[in-house]
Amino acid sequence: MEDGMGIQASGNYWVLESGDAAYAMGVEAGGVLVHTYWGRKLPRLSDYPAAERAKHFSADHVLQLTAQEVTTGEASASDERTLDATIAGGHLRGLVLRFESAEVGDNTLAITLRDADLNLRVVLTYGTLDQRGLFTRALSVINDGEREVKLTRVFTGAFNLPVGGEFAINHLSGRWGDEFRMNRDPMGFGTIQRDSRRVITSHGGVPYFAVDRNEPGLAASEEAGEVWFGTLQWSGNWRLIAERTRDDRGIIHLGLNDHDFAWDLQSGEAFDAPRVVYGYSANGFGAMSRAYHDLIRQDLSPRPNFVAPIVYNSWYATLFDVDQEGQTALADKAAKMGVELFVMDDGWFHGRNTDKAGLGDWWPDEVKFPKGLTPLIDAVKERGMQFGLWIEPEMVNPDSDLYRAHPDWVLHYEGRERSLMRNQSILNMGRVDVQDYLIDIFDRLLTENPIDFIKWDMNRSASEAGWPTHERDAREIWVRYVEGLYRVWGELRARHPNVIWENCCSGGGRVDLGMMALTEQSWTSDNTVPAARLLIQEGYSQLFPANTMAGWATDEERHEYPLDFRFHVSMAGALGVGGNLLDWSDEECSVAAGHLARFKEIRHLVAGGDLYRLRSAHHHAVSAFAYVARDKAEAVLFVFRVHSARLGANPAIRIAGLDPEALYAVEGSDVVRTGRAWAEIGLIPTIKNLQSQILRFTRV
Ligand code: DGJ
Repeated sequence: MEDGMGIQASGNYWVLESGDAAYAMGVEAGGVLVHTYWGRKLPRLSDYPAAERAKHFSADHVLQLTAQEVTTGEASASDERTLDATIAGGHLRGLVLRFESAEVGDNTLAITLRDADLNLRVVLTYGTLDQRGLFTRALSVINDGEREVKLTRVFTGAFNLPVGGEFAINHLSGRWGDEFRMNRDPMGFGTIQRDSRRVITSHGGVPYFAVDRNEPGLAASEEAGEVWFGTLQWSGNWRLIAERTRDDRGIIHLGLNDHDFAWDLQSGEAFDAPRVVYGYSANGFGAMSRAYHDLIRQDLSPRPNFVAPIVYNSWYATLFDVDQEGQTALADKAAKMGVELFVMDDGWFHGRNTDKAGLGDWWPDEVKFPKGLTPLIDAVKERGMQFGLWIEPEMVNPDSDLYRAHPDWVLHYEGRERSLMRNQSILNMGRVDVQDYLIDIFDRLLTENPIDFIKWDMNRSASEAGWPTHERDAREIWVRYVEGLYRVWGELRARHPNVIWENCCSGGGRVDLGMMALTEQSWTSDNTVPAARLLIQEGYSQLFPANTMAGWATDEERHEYPLDFRFHVSMAGALGVGGNLLDWSDEECSVAAGHLARFKEIRHLVAGGDLYRLRSAHHHAVSAFAYVARDKAEAVLFVFRVHSARLGANPAIRIAGLDPEALYAVEGSDVVRTGRAWAEIGLIPTIKNLQSQILRFTRV
């Protein structure tokens, strides 16, 4: 085993180790898989607690009081279950799982449990990820028996917190235009539930938890304190239950949503639940975020260590009113500003003049683009930029050729009204014929046109989620939809490996690890108002790295915020421009050009550096964060000041993350200090309300 990571085993007892973190479990005498430890790595294998049943001290059954990796309702009809099933029309419910075997690899552990009566196999697969303090777990259910089993809940696992603590759960919640809002709720007795039932991950939240201690002096901060965290790699319905049990144990249950869900597992069939990437940080939320950022940038992203080109996007400038002439005029100004990739948003395809028609008919509108897209693409490329296009594959307007030909391709219940949202229906992505159609039509679009970038949008949630021709339980749709989505997108990616894919869902409605594995970047939010965006971006950064966080400087509240401020906010991620450049004065264009040039100098740090959140925009009028190069040779500091009545009273920003022994100079000043001094003394920004600064630190 490589030092500091891997699996240690002793009989039927296993310890997963990654960096400073450890996670342990074992089989107790009766064959139940018991959770024993999650926290800071311990020196010796024998330090970890034994795998045994709880001591019986009440009228409850001991198994109700025993921390288990998977709970199934055995010996308890009342407890939360990881897995649930009905058999024989509901006369038999729940499972009784016992250990069967284990297979230990370098960084993987597969444990097989079995329900002997049903001959149902459950395989739990664990992994350790490098030195980052991260682990993975996944779960499969396989029906080796003869009877049909109806799965009614398949979570990925129970995550047991250390015994005897007071905890709070930190999570990201929100709504459209206000995504990734940071929340912290004490875990009192009972449950806190978060979920999505919308077929997308949802603006309402990310399937993610970060638990810290809720006791005086023990709460985690950015760089100190213990955090137990996890997130589901899934882009559809999910559910999280944070529970404090009667006997005072903390458990987080996380997985696919069981709302309106069922899955018929016939003899010989397997069902795979999505994996959870989880971990432990002894050094606060910052270390957790940096571990996720590394994982996403280096391992999960289809294009490791991606550095985004600067995008111009037409949406806010022209809405649906796109044509050759107007887009070329925008492209002209964008190119002169230093934009590298020009994206034509919604409005370009057959019959699309408003949001009432066209979705589904993915060929250029004959009136707007009589010669197809080639002349525009040529004009963009002649100006030295790449070309990108907006699509919304999962949708169809009733007023479209596609819907007229295939009205049965949308989610619907036979005989009931099909509710529209934004005048559109949602295609049944579970259907293979729908998937094949989408693969085909977009493959053609990408083959016939030299398109470098696709923004894949998704603008409504599911309503009548029926599937009249499905010969199994139609409640499988919630899972089959996402699997279909992954198939279509994955296939298009594979056929067009050079295309950069942007994930959009009315802003940040579907941002999760599943999408991080499919796409280079995500459109963070439709809300581009800078002060709001600071909050949204800080929430986003809890999990997702800056190189995936697309942000455009737009015209929203243009007269409230200086141009510099608007650009600086967007430069904290993958900078883009989204204003109507035809309205921008020469002076504004030249200021913008300066920001683009500046961004090109610092974007390697933003995209690839370690993020240190220094002062939260949620709590302070002056907020700040820094991206520090991996080798600590340089860093870039971002500071923003929103409205504060106490003009002039700026706080010192203490810069974490620099090498404490090395000397650093900061641009615009003669001061040279050690990293330790920058961390202790900090830097007092020279900004007033609605001003911002980006300052580069260099090791001397
Ligand atoms: C919603 C997206 O979030 C916007 O950026 C834009 O692409 C519109 N859809 C287009 O309809």
